[in-house]
Amino acid sequence: HRVLLLNGPNLNMLGVRQPEVYGAASLADVVALAERTASELGLTVSARQTNHEGEMLDWIHAARGEFDAIVINPGAWTHTSVALRDALVIPDVPVIEVHISNVHAREEFRHTSYVSGIAAAVIAGCGVQGYDFALRRVAQLLADE
Ligand code: DQA
Repeated sequence: HRVLLLNGPNLNMLGVRQPEVYGAASLADVVALAERTASELGLTVSARQTNHEGEMLDWIHAARGEFDAIVINPGAWTHTSVALRDALVIPDVPVIEVHISNVHAREEFRHTSYVSGIAAAVIAGCGVQGYDFALRRVAQLLADE
């Protein structure tokens, strides 16, 4: 099975950006971790990050028929973007929402997610291990199909 792993705005700055909140791992470390887990699970993973919402929407549209699941950390677009939510239902595959930090323990504006209502699962507060958990959940969901 093919998994599209998407990271939204500012996540290219992982390791540099607020390490007390997001940890020391870089985005490259996250991708390496995900690739290791994916190969263990017999999944292929395609990992992308963008700071441009339109580019993210285009990638999600193009995922239709090309990927069997989407794992996404939508970053701040989680809390702002109806367009992202609308796009994520188009490929018609399971979506797992990942947040490195526990968004519910942070500012009020991070407690609302436009994505959670269409997600098969939501993982928050597990650090970058959340991506690993998301891929394990994807493998389970696709095996059960
Ligand atoms: C985040 C949480 C969001 O609130 C924030 O805007 C991010 C990262 C996380 O991974 O914890 O950019 O999605």
